[in-house]
Amino acid sequence: MSLTLSEKSAAYLQLEEKFGAHNYHPLPVVLEKGEGVFLWDVDGKRYYDFLSGYSAVNQGHCHPKIIAALVEQSKKLTLTSRAFHNNLLGGYEKFITDYFGYDKVLPMNTGVEGGETAIKLARRWAYTKKGVAENQAKIIFADGNFWGRTLAAISSSTDPSSYQGFGPFMPGFGLVPYNDLIALEKALQDKNVAAFMVEPIQGEAGVVIPDEGYLKGVRELCTTYNVLFIADEIQTGLARTGKMLACDHENVRPDILILGKALSGGVLPVSAVLADDYIMMNIKPGEHGSTYGGNPLACAVAVAALTVLKEEKMAENAEAMGQLLRSALAKLQSPFIASIRGKGLLNAIVITHPNPDAAWELCLALQENGLLAKPTHGDKIRFAPPLLITQKQVLECAGIIDRSLRSL
Ligand SMILES: Cc1ncc(COP(=O)(O)O)c(C=O)c1O
Repeated sequence: MSLTLSEKSAAYLQLEEKFGAHNYHPLPVVLEKGEGVFLWDVDGKRYYDFLSGYSAVNQGHCHPKIIAALVEQSKKLTLTSRAFHNNLLGGYEKFITDYFGYDKVLPMNTGVEGGETAIKLARRWAYTKKGVAENQAKIIFADGNFWGRTLAAISSSTDPSSYQGFGPFMPGFGLVPYNDLIALEKALQDKNVAAFMVEPIQGEAGVVIPDEGYLKGVRELCTTYNVLFIADEIQTGLARTGKMLACDHENVRPDILILGKALSGGVLPVSAVLADDYIMMNIKPGEHGSTYGGNPLACAVAVAALTVLKEEKMAENAEAMGQLLRSALAKLQSPFIASIRGKGLLNAIVITHPNPDAAWELCLALQENGLLAKPTHGDKIRFAPPLLITQKQVLECAGIIDRSLRSL
């Protein structure tokens, strides 16, 4: 299917084509406005947003309370660097450590920086506390992981489109199959292992949900072998899966928790690494940081973003609306949906169709019908709307998906 682009949209696409690096392959839509669950393109057409900026916009586009915090603070003070103190950082640190129940937080900006920070903390802990010999620490990851695009992140990747042609890679990384506690136990027996870093649900891999009990098993194995459990909750955290953290589904507490994306409600890059003192206090002044990390604007926005999640009961709504969405999709009984999976409002369908581009084609049809979603890994499409979506809207979206499937 080919969409007819307006002249206005085509002009924006041409600009990006000519002057921007070609490191993305977006849907042919040019957006200029967002509010709640909706986005509008430059021609004024309205869409349901079923990607939510890869779960950065859990609270909905331009949430008035988050924007108010942004505007108010941006008129006062935005950045001091950590060379000086600012009057918001300490309050934010107290707020977020109380909120998640950890001794300390280390503020960063992007999600991938959060991952890098967690790995540095784990390596330092291994050398100072576990007794691993200098430069021998290992971090274990799961096949199919995704935690960003830096050299360290791609060094742990099993996706050739992430790592191929970018070597040499970071040493000291190991891999085990996801959702495989036997393989994990074998890997953790190596005395040099500092940490196992894992997503409670693999987002980019296509919403891969491990068996019930996996996270509990990970927690137990990490404790048994004196290995840190690092939970990458950058995509799964902050109410997306129907609980504040995806780890809460199994009542497990990671040793290091990484948050990002919705920590700012999609307003600016804010990430955070949380841990207790026996891990965090091994890093001394000058050993880690970032110019923008902990800036007062980010602090104000993050407090507002976290407050809104609880005030508006977004985890509860994600749980209820996720169930409704999955059952509405199942009722469609489409021959082109091979499977429907998800937790809360982190969902995916797997497309089966003789045309290998069917998932992309379906996304174009969805766009035509007023809903934006994007395929991942060819045949999977994530359905992850902002968490304030209502019952009526979910049912309307199921109708749009039905109509679009029929056009395949
Ligand atoms: C689980 C997970 N970790 C880390 C990242 C990286 O976050 P960022 O793109 O903000 O660096 C992502 C991004 O999609 C992610 O899904």
